[in-house]
Amino acid sequence: MTRRILIAGNWKMNTRSASAVELAKAVVAKVGENPKVDVALCPPSVYLAAVADVVAGTPVGLGSQNVYAADDGAYTGEVNASMLTDVGCRYVILGHSERRAILGETDAMISEKLHAALAGNLVPIVCVGETLEDREAGNTEKVVETQIRGSLAGLDEVRAAGIVIAYEPVWAIGTGKTASPEQAEEVHAFLRKLLGEIFSADVADQIVIQYGGSVKPGNAKELLGQPNIDGALVGGAALKAEDFIGIIEPA
Ligand code: G3H
Repeated sequence: MTRRILIAGNWKMNTRSASAVELAKAVVAKVGENPKVDVALCPPSVYLAAVADVVAGTPVGLGSQNVYAADDGAYTGEVNASMLTDVGCRYVILGHSERRAILGETDAMISEKLHAALAGNLVPIVCVGETLEDREAGNTEKVVETQIRGSLAGLDEVRAAGIVIAYEPVWAIGTGKTASPEQAEEVHAFLRKLLGEIFSADVADQIVIQYGGSVKPGNAKELLGQPNIDGALVGGAALKAEDFIGIIEPA
């Protein structure tokens, strides 16, 4: 089974309308027409439509950083999966550690969002990862297993094969401290084995597992060279076109 690499830029709560369009244009121009890998940009919700105009008709995909439900309802301030596909999204990031820690998202909430995303034909990118405290206490596998089992609750094998997992050790996010390729691969291999137990070996083999946490041009090649690392979810380095491209090109 050959999984396609997915490099996604999570712009988090950054850019303005002009800089978002400029950044997207620069990425689209550099990615060209036939990239060897899948590429996605995940701008803040308010700029999704503007970035959608730039990436329309190109191989660069669009992703949201969150979703609330599948369809319309009285949920002030939220967006649903139908709206996201309506503006051209293909992906949605779910359960990012910043949302888990700052906004109190639980695995149960992430599971609900996962089913909403799938109902809206979005590809969910489900984030998991341990804190430094978890790692130092030897609890990395236990923590990511709990997150995976809870966040993917109720998911069937057929749909599981099309999701994306992002392993993002919290201690490596925005800190400049990247997990070594060996540290990351160890967790990725564990996740693939776990997904095989939950679904099947065949399904686990199809699931793209990205690494996230201080990925930059200088460390991307080695990380992506690991057998179970199928891409990157990039934060800070996705805000500069040349850095983001520097991650995509050697992939
Ligand atoms: O979603 C992206 C991750 O949080 C990684 O962010 O590349 O700035 O460490 P970072």
